[in-house]
Amino acid sequence: MGYLRHLECTHCHAQHSPDALHNLCPRCGKVLFPRYDLERVRAEVSRDEFARREPTMWRYREVMPINDPANIVTLGEGMTPLLPLKEVGRRLGLRRVHVKEEGLNPTGSFKARGLSAAVSKAKELGVRAASMPSAGNAGSAAAAYCARAGIELYLVMPADVPHVNQVECDICGAHTFLIRGLINDAGRSLRARGREQGWFDMSTLKEPYRVEGKKTMGYELAEQFGWSLPDVIIYPTGGGTGIVGMWKAFEELEALGWIGSHRPRMVIVQAAGCAPMVRAHREGREHAEPWQDARTVAAGLRVPEAIGDYLILQAVRESGGTSYAVTDDEILADMRELAGAEGLFACPEGAATYGALKALVRDRLVAADERVVLFNTGAGMKYVDLVRPTLPTFEPAHPPEALRA
Ligand SMILES: Cc1ncc(COP(=O)(O)O)c(C=O)c1O
Ligand SMILES: [Zn+2]
Repeated sequence: MGYLRHLECTHCHAQHSPDALHNLCPRCGKVLFPRYDLERVRAEVSRDEFARREPTMWRYREVMPINDPANIVTLGEGMTPLLPLKEVGRRLGLRRVHVKEEGLNPTGSFKARGLSAAVSKAKELGVRAASMPSAGNAGSAAAAYCARAGIELYLVMPADVPHVNQVECDICGAHTFLIRGLINDAGRSLRARGREQGWFDMSTLKEPYRVEGKKTMGYELAEQFGWSLPDVIIYPTGGGTGIVGMWKAFEELEALGWIGSHRPRMVIVQAAGCAPMVRAHREGREHAEPWQDARTVAAGLRVPEAIGDYLILQAVRESGGTSYAVTDDEILADMRELAGAEGLFACPEGAATYGALKALVRDRLVAADERVVLFNTGAGMKYVDLVRPTLPTFEPAHPPEALRA
């Protein structure tokens, strides 16, 4: 432990101490990244060691920001399965499609990774109370990890986030408030009050360590593919910390000598009713304009603006990737198709990656033998309200035709 060196601004490159609490760069207001002594990690750790370690994201502890292992707040997050999708591949004429099944994380989404890292570091730095706006799943994860760490948490979420998110936040004892508006409105409503009360702001990318939890998705992919990377990654993008984190992971992995210079093409997918990053990418911009009147059934994608927009767009551009928006109708149909074809009950955000894969095939942007990874970022079971089964009643006297002898 103890390889964390400093925080570095992703824009002005100023360095800041990791021993003090930070949000955005005090000099320019942009996103800070933790930086490690990767030379020393490289000299002291062999990648073959990981196979013998615990099956959680903390197996990569040398590239995680915690100095004292006693501060790690874990519920067993990470090391999620990488599953082949043979039937999906067959339907699309692709031989090597996989899904990274993040729905198996604690609190049912990949948000557990970011919050495990952030809450652990907050504990290490002595935080007693924190606050956060959320589109749903991040709130659930924050509530769970803060409860475990004994940190008081204040959450503000849109009033129409999935019911299960409200239940999770409530049962874990977070002070949870609903707002008529979206995640950015929630953030605004918290800012002044949080400063006044001394609550540490744990908003994604405004807090420098959530991204370190998300980056472990990149480390796991490398390890699960035998220390190589796939050719295409399709990721449902809201605030973008997942894609930004993986892109950071690949740079670190190469510096560590654990992978080569091959990079996946990073494909972002958003909902047609809220697609600020797709619009900015398609228009060749470095920053995204806020999306007006954001609407989609994929609650995690209802993020009209992202502080890390330039980092998301940079990852897509540098990787030679692309971007797609999919409609809610496509998302709902693809949830059903994925479940029926593969037994995978994906969240709507995860199902959106399948729609993007169909678009990639249509646009001939993926070859039959390329390795493709879809990210199912959460469990479909958190979204049961989106599925309306119409099941016939079984009457023994008049059995339905399908059951007649
Ligand atoms: C299930 C799910 N997928 C994807 C996202 C978007 O993730 P990110 O903020 O890393 O872009 C969210 C965010 O709330 C989510 O809950
Ligand atoms: Zn800066």
